[in-house]
Amino acid sequence: EQKTYTMIKPDGVRNGHVGEIVNRFERAGLKIERMELGMVTDEQAKANYAEHEGKPFYDGLISYITSGPVVKMVVSGDGAVAKCRSLMGATNPAEAAPGTIRGDFGLIMDENVIHGSDSPESAEREIGIFFA
Ligand code: GTP
Ligand code: MG
Repeated sequence: EQKTYTMIKPDGVRNGHVGEIVNRFERAGLKIERMELGMVTDEQAKANYAEHEGKPFYDGLISYITSGPVVKMVVSGDGAVAKCRSLMGATNPAEAAPGTIRGDFGLIMDENVIHGSDSPESAEREIGIFFA
């Protein structure tokens, strides 16, 4: 069974979308393996978003993801990485299709409700960062 790392970001938790998002994962046949509410440390944020270091939005991204509680999850199932990304929708909520998590609950690029690993390799790395 493939595993992926997904995380409901501070705006998703603050705006009360946790239950609905978990529900969508379960309805899609994905299994919640681990789930924890808590803060992201500065160190975890920088490790998770290392690929974006130096980009204009990087500092804002790090301070946003550490700004309030998130829900960290390991989710498993057939094609879990791609399934999770397709449930999430496009990175920019303004371009995300209705029916996707970002399309339904997101407003702006900087606060886009949810994170999901972009490959099985990223998933393994990110699970190590958040569930060490
Ligand atoms: P994550 O699941 O959060 O990793 O999003 P993603 O894989 O869909 O996008 P990506 O990894 O490319 O970017 C990580 C996060 O940085 C995004 O979720 C956005 O919040 C933010 N981001 C990416 N590109 C831009 C940009 O051009 N401008 C701004 N303001 N934010 C961006
Ligand atoms: Mg990404």
